[in-house]
Amino acid sequence: MTTTPELPADWVRPVGSTGLRTTAVMLGCSPLGHVEPASEGVATVRAVLGSPIRALDTSNDYADGESERRIGQALAEAGGLPEDVLLVTKVDARGSDFSGRRVRDSLAESRARLGVDELGLVHLHDPEYHDFDHVTEPGGAVDTLVAARESGEVRAIGLAGGDVRVMARYLELGVFDVLLTHSRWSLLDRSAGPIIDAALEQGMAVMNAAVYGAGILVDPASTSYGYRRAPSELVEAAAAMREVCARHGTDLRTAALQFSVRDERFASTIVGMSHPDRVAATVEAATADLPADLWPELEALVPPRRVWLDA
Ligand SMILES: NC(=O)c1ccc[n+]([C@@H]2O[C@H](COP(=O)([O-])OP(=O)(O)OC[C@H]3O[C@@H](n4cnc5c(N)ncnc54)[C@H](OP(=O)(O)O)[C@@H]3O)[C@@H](O)[C@H]2O)c1
Repeated sequence: MTTTPELPADWVRPVGSTGLRTTAVMLGCSPLGHVEPASEGVATVRAVLGSPIRALDTSNDYADGESERRIGQALAEAGGLPEDVLLVTKVDARGSDFSGRRVRDSLAESRARLGVDELGLVHLHDPEYHDFDHVTEPGGAVDTLVAARESGEVRAIGLAGGDVRVMARYLELGVFDVLLTHSRWSLLDRSAGPIIDAALEQGMAVMNAAVYGAGILVDPASTSYGYRRAPSELVEAAAAMREVCARHGTDLRTAALQFSVRDERFASTIVGMSHPDRVAATVEAATADLPADLWPELEALVPPRRVWLDA
C-alpha cells in the first residue's frame, strides 16, 4: 500500500506576481506525447490530476501536438481543468515562421487541443533557434504574446529556452513574467546562474526544468545530459555522486530532484514523466528527508564550468 507523503508548507507556491499558483513539482509533458501506447501518456496526466502535483508544462509542438492532445483527453475525462491546476503551454514557430500571425495560430491550436477557453501561462518557446530581429520585430511573436496578455487572452507570459546568452538578450526586453530554464541548474551544470539572477531582479518567477538532464541523473545506463552526449567528466561526476548518495541512504534521482526543489528561488521544478507510476515516486522523492551533510559532498563533485552546456 502506498502512503501519501506529508507535503511541506511551501508545496503550493505563487508564480511571481502573476496571481497564478503552482506546486513545487510540475509535470513536464514532453515525454508523454511520445510514449506508446497513447493511453499510457493519458494515464500519466490522470495520475497527476489525482496527486499533489497541481501544474503541467507542455508546448504546442511536443510530439507534433500529441502531448497537448493527450492532456486534452485526460482533462475531458476529468470534466475539464480542475480549478487548482495550472496548465502551461508554449507558442512555437512553424519552420522558420515565428511571426505574430504564427503566435496567434499557435495559441488557437493549443486551446483547441487542450479543450480550454483560457490559457494561464504561455511561454515563448525556444527562441534561440530563430533570428532575434524576426522574433522581436514590431507586431511579431513577442509583441503578439504581450498583446495576448494585455487583452486577457492569457494571464501571464514567459520565456522558455536553453542557451543562456540568448535568454539574457530576451530578458533585457523586460516584458516576461516567468523564466523557464532547463538542464542548466542541476547537480551537474550551473550555466543558468546569471539568467536566474537577472529574472529574479525583474521580479519574475523562475521555473527549473530537466533537472535530470533527461539522462544520466535519472538513468545510470544513460550517457547523455541536456539532450546530447555527455562529456566523460560529467559521466564520471554522476557516477561519483551516485556513490555519495548510496552512502547517505538515498539515490541520485532523489538528490537531483531535491537539489532544485529545496532552492527557494524556483517557483516550480519541472519533471518529465510518461508513466503513471512515476508520479507517486516523484512526490515521494521530492518530499523525502535527506541528510544535510549530503549537499556539501555533492557540491564538491560539481564538474568544472568548461563542461557545462553553456561554458
Ligand atoms: N525549452 C523548453 O521549454 C524546455 C526544455 C526542456 C524541458 N522542458 C520541460 O521540462 C520537462 C522536463 O524535461 P525532460 O522531460 O526533457 O527531462 P527530465 O525531467 O530531466 O527527465 C525526464 C526523464 O526522466 C525519467 N523519469 C522521471 N521520473 C522517473 C522515475 N521516478 N524513475 C525513472 N525515470 C524517471 C522520465 O522517464 P519516463 O519518460 O520513462 O517516465 C523521462 O524520460 C519537459 O518535459 C518539458 O515539460 C522545457
